[in-house]
Amino acid sequence: MATKLFSPFTIKKITLKNRIVISPMCQYSSVDGFANDWHLVHLGSRATGGAGLIIQEATAVSPEARISPSDLGIWKDEHIEKLKQINAFIVSQNSIPGVQLAHAGRKASVSAPWLGNKKLDFAQGGWQTVAPSAIPYHDDEPFLPEALDKNGIQKVISDFKSATKRVVEAGYQVVEVHAAHGYLLHQFLSPLTNVRTDEYGGSFENRIRFTLEVVEAVQSEWPSDLPLFVRISATDWAENGWNPEESVQLSKILKEKGVDLIDVSSGGLVSHQKITLGPGYQVPFAEKVKQEASIATGAVGLITEAKQAEEILNKNQADLILFARESLRNPNLPLDFAKELNDDIQWPKQYERAKL
Ligand SMILES: Cc1cc2nc3c(=O)[nH]c(=O)nc-3n(C[C@H](O)[C@H](O)[C@H](O)COP(=O)(O)O)c2cc1C
Repeated sequence: MATKLFSPFTIKKITLKNRIVISPMCQYSSVDGFANDWHLVHLGSRATGGAGLIIQEATAVSPEARISPSDLGIWKDEHIEKLKQINAFIVSQNSIPGVQLAHAGRKASVSAPWLGNKKLDFAQGGWQTVAPSAIPYHDDEPFLPEALDKNGIQKVISDFKSATKRVVEAGYQVVEVHAAHGYLLHQFLSPLTNVRTDEYGGSFENRIRFTLEVVEAVQSEWPSDLPLFVRISATDWAENGWNPEESVQLSKILKEKGVDLIDVSSGGLVSHQKITLGPGYQVPFAEKVKQEASIATGAVGLITEAKQAEEILNKNQADLILFARESLRNPNLPLDFAKELNDDIQWPKQYERAKL
């Protein structure tokens, strides 16, 4: 039976073979920003598993943009070679390699989750973080983030531009700008973290300025016939924070600028957020952005079942479905989902004897 989940999706000159996307997931497994065989196997096995698009984890545009010292990065040319190899493998499996470009802002300089996710001070190998305003994420952090001045803002924008140049060289076919989860771009968007009084703070137009300038910088290097996504947090889940209406307004503007898809997540900005969790809890935001801003969306968050994903697409709530944790539990999720939905898809020929 032909399903929506396994129907192709064309954006610009790229056609995804199905609507299943591996959501970006930090692996905290790099030294000096370099990809290695962990990334090859992790991303490669999700390509053999049948995903249409694989968006590589938050990839830092500069060393200080990393969340932890072991984040992946693309701030120097030497990073390109291994990434190119990984991407060639993904393409060989008829999947599309994408990358998420990121700057952690005030949430940078922490240890990896399995080392406690704790702020690292300078003696522990941490570094000075930056933000729109000198407001820490937690009150008890050992140092404050530095509010970016105009030169600092320009440097970050130019880091995104140079990173995009390398992204092109490394053979990615989709680029996603990370403007969600309380990282630097989101920090500028939300009045809870941005109390600037210059042209980058205050009004909605001023708070979105930095994100728009980053997107423009990416576009200046990114081929116009390849897809550009932006991940947003549709709400801060906190009073007086960034909200779904502003998300729709921003999405409209991004669409006009040539962004192809909004990957709709939520939260991550402030420690006092109150999230209402449940299956598909962020899908209504993806639907709102899709309907009200007339732009393609990706739905993500506690989507774990084939029928659930198929229903989201059939109800026209989103165009793509991103899977994070469920795809860690099962790298062959797309192959299994096709079987469950009774849709006949191509398996890697090496695995065909297991298809029955
Ligand atoms: C291990 C792990 C790492 C993650 N790293 C990123 C990341 O680099 N960028 C990002 O936007 N979201 C990241 N996320 C969030 C996921 O992409 C996804 O939005 C979230 O887990 C909800 O989807 P799920 O319920 O399918 O897991 C991460 C999630 C996990 C579990």
